[in-house]
Amino acid sequence: MRSVKYSGAGPASEVISITDIAIPTPGPGEVVVKVGAAGLNPVDVKIRAAATDFGPIKYSDRPGWDVAGVVATVAPDVSAWSPGDRVFALAAFPAAAHTLAEYAVVAAGDLAAAPDAWTIAQAGAAPLAALTAWQALEAAAVGAGQRVLVLGGAGGVGHLAIQLAKARGAEVTATASAAKHQLLRSWGADHVVDYRDEHALASLTGVDAVIVTVDGTLPPRGTVTEGTAVITITGLSADDSALLAEWGAAPVERILVAASGGQLAEIAALADAGEVEVHLDSEFGLDELVAAQERVESGRVTGKVVVVIDRDA
Ligand SMILES: NC(=O)c1ccc[n+]([C@@H]2O[C@H](COP(=O)([O-])OP(=O)(O)OC[C@H]3O[C@@H](n4cnc5c(N)ncnc54)[C@H](OP(=O)(O)O)[C@@H]3O)[C@@H](O)[C@H]2O)c1
Repeated sequence: MRSVKYSGAGPASEVISITDIAIPTPGPGEVVVKVGAAGLNPVDVKIRAAATDFGPIKYSDRPGWDVAGVVATVAPDVSAWSPGDRVFALAAFPAAAHTLAEYAVVAAGDLAAAPDAWTIAQAGAAPLAALTAWQALEAAAVGAGQRVLVLGGAGGVGHLAIQLAKARGAEVTATASAAKHQLLRSWGADHVVDYRDEHALASLTGVDAVIVTVDGTLPPRGTVTEGTAVITITGLSADDSALLAEWGAAPVERILVAASGGQLAEIAALADAGEVEVHLDSEFGLDELVAAQERVESGRVTGKVVVVIDRDA
């Protein structure tokens, strides 16, 4: 089968190649998926550039974590899945996985049935970003009637955080550049703010929870009131954490997404109920992985970038 391989640290154009290797067989508790599509995330390009582990996030020279496709073979001890099932997963994260290939081994517990409402490209694009958004909203205990601010509402995580927060009944404010505001509204955002408009940012008022998806960005002062939950999926300096505490925020929680077939099944149910869609920024073939990774590296992605390996899977 064709499988992506990195030759070491460096730019996408220098280290990415496609090699031919044997189709894998499933070990105990595992399933082999014929890959239809595999999403790309900023972590894919950061870890490729450095070719090293990032703390618990494991580097592999055969990369890829997101996957959607059709079950090809199952280990004898797996009863939950059968050949032909249409599935999607965040495989193994933060341990290494190898989904940028024609076939991928996935632990049975990481899989969920792919939503009928989504194309295989959408299902392959979603898992890491959707689970991150889901787990951030869980960490903030977002519920009906709460006011939520999503900093970075147009990216992979942000556009799903808006929709999943709306599905929980929250009132959502989100930031994005002005050209993307109409899209944010189509995903359900009640209020949209241009992150380059300091006056508009300064006029925002207190919220119950802030989901930070943009590196080096703090919630505007007025949005933080006593007990505001601040969940970040990016880095935050000790000084920034101290400042937020001074403003009255609850202790900032930094989360790292974890694979979960159970949570993906809940997201799939919302997708099939018409409450969550995946906006595809762009689709690439396996042979176009360099361009696909460069698109992610641009930082301008709207929704998700996906690599489509077999559209008929
Ligand atoms: N901790 C975890 O488990 C975890 C999980 C997933 C992702 N992450 C990290 O979270 C970050 C976001 O991931 P992602 O996949 O959502 O990224 P992404 O899809 O690449 O985000 C791109 C979007 O960010 C917007 N943006 C850039 N600067 C902004 C600003 N100052 N304010 C508001 N929006 C801004 C861009 O909009 P414009 O083009 O309009 O500027 C673009 O639409 C990355 O650093 C990623 O590594 C962490």
